[in-house]
Amino acid sequence: MSEAPDELARLARRYRTFAADEAQGVSPHYERLTQEIAESGVILRFLLDLPAPRRQPNLLLGAATLVAGRPPDIASLTDMVASRAEKLRAVMLRRTTQTNEPARCAVLLPLLAALPQPLALIEVGASAGLCLLPDRYGYDFGEARLAPADPAAPVFRCAVTGPAPLPTALPRVTWRAGLDLNPLDVASDEDTAWLEALIWPEQDERRRNLRAALAVARRDPPRVVRGDLLHDLRPLMVEAPADATLVVFHAAVLAYVTPPEARQPFVDTVRGSRAVWISNEAPRVFPDIAARAAQPAPHWRFLLAVDGEPRAWTGPHGQSLEWFGRIA
Ligand SMILES: C[S@@+](CC[C@H](N)C(=O)[O-])C[C@H]1O[C@@H](n2cnc3c(N)ncnc32)[C@H](O)[C@@H]1O
Repeated sequence: MSEAPDELARLARRYRTFAADEAQGVSPHYERLTQEIAESGVILRFLLDLPAPRRQPNLLLGAATLVAGRPPDIASLTDMVASRAEKLRAVMLRRTTQTNEPARCAVLLPLLAALPQPLALIEVGASAGLCLLPDRYGYDFGEARLAPADPAAPVFRCAVTGPAPLPTALPRVTWRAGLDLNPLDVASDEDTAWLEALIWPEQDERRRNLRAALAVARRDPPRVVRGDLLHDLRPLMVEAPADATLVVFHAAVLAYVTPPEARQPFVDTVRGSRAVWISNEAPRVFPDIAARAAQPAPHWRFLLAVDGEPRAWTGPHGQSLEWFGRIA
């Protein structure tokens, strides 16, 4: 018997799981659409013709949004697969899910502001580098607010619980650089259209904040070097000024480094250097760190850790900070 029916069923399950675990409660539109995709032989067969790593729900949804100029529904997606399959396929082969979420700076801010200033920042897996600009945005932590120097800069709202050391001033960054397998360019209309297409339909605040962050970044673009965090980090660390606290950080990146054991050389490089290591990843990415957290991981949260010590659960898009660790 051919493997195709099994593969089709597996892919359908993947889209159903995405609907239940990722889209539910976040995007009713994508929850419904991915359930419908799981029932659509035509769309599943289109996906099966792609290489396995290119069948991801987020990649399909972003690519279809880019091609249509708006989030698809099941009718327009079915039509696209029939009449514009090559265009959709080309986007899915050329692009990867490089969501750049500047609001993640909100959960980094308490850690960055508590370090000896000034800072030299290296972000691995930086995408377009929007998270390299934490000092140029504003923050609303509820009881504490930090206004941006530029009134047009985005102000990120972050709901805080627990004894988080909320900052009273923005960090001072004197040097910054990103590293990415495929840096996106904040000045490229094509790249920024892709970043927008990756934002889910109902997330208007994220879309507004992305546009505002891109405008900030375009005025003085962050440097993002093409390279692999496993091989190209050391030369970048050497460039950082010695009179600044060097911070190596990442969010939503190390899951892409597989198998899990492959992450250890990166950890060893950072831990063996003078850098402070800030990790903001799904708990399964570093299970040994997650095992030391005070409580089991709540649903759909990232784990924020400093030098391998867990500090807080964070909303994956920087929307919340649940502090449980040491204060600084
Ligand atoms: C989901 S995006 C997250 C971007 C950014 N960290 C943020 O929080 O907005 C993941 C990024 O990691 C990059 N990436 C994945 N594996 C990498 C590697 N081995 N070395 C460098 N960058 C990598 C991808 O190209 C992509 O831009």
